[in-house]
Amino acid sequence: MKDSFEITPMTQKDLAAVCAIEKDSFPTPWTPALFLQELELSFSRHFIVSEVKTERTKEVVGYMIFWIIHDETQLQKIAVKKDLRKQGIGSILIREMIRICRLEGVAKGSLEVRPSNQAAIGLYQKFGFVVKGLRKGYYQDTREDALIMCFEVD
Ligand SMILES: CC(C)(COP(=O)(O)OP(=O)(O)OC[C@H]1O[C@@H](n2cnc3c(N)ncnc32)[C@H](O)[C@@H]1OP(=O)(O)O)[C@@H](O)C(=O)NCCC(=O)NCCS
Repeated sequence: MKDSFEITPMTQKDLAAVCAIEKDSFPTPWTPALFLQELELSFSRHFIVSEVKTERTKEVVGYMIFWIIHDETQLQKIAVKKDLRKQGIGSILIREMIRICRLEGVAKGSLEVRPSNQAAIGLYQKFGFVVKGLRKGYYQDTREDALIMCFEVD
């Protein structure tokens, strides 16, 4: 990880910054209330990446939510602030997810992604996710299909 970025659990105080990135990243963004609910779920793991600017100033630049249920994980959300994409921040988040999966004895994981989302597909492929199937009309907002991508934790 670059020295100027740190990864920490997401808390309620991060939600304004998280929701601003969310609005800028998804056609149907989650509401603050949905994020708040997520923070309460025992099987949810949620993290932010902050850019450390000075000793006292940090800015949330990305976040991720995944679930761990028994020995499987499901990636629910990942997003990076628009002007900081393609600089490795998404990779920092996925590496952290894999590290936690190993710690918690998770064997495998899955996620859904829009076939048009080449950036996300590229990120997932970089970490060994492979396309295993398709959910027809999965996304209610655009009726787009979802690719199902899976990976095994080694
Ligand atoms: C998907 C997303 C989180 C990637 O974050 P990022 O910080 O840009 O990712 P990284 O810089 O770590 O890139 C990792 C890999 O992803 C791929 N990638 C990233 N952006 C890409 C793009 N625009 N086109 C194609 N591949 C891309 C590359 O393979 C890259 O590997 P490399 O750095 O070795 O070239 C970011 O684009 C984003 O926030 N998108 C909007 C939200 C979203 O769509 N989330 C996923 C929903 S399923």
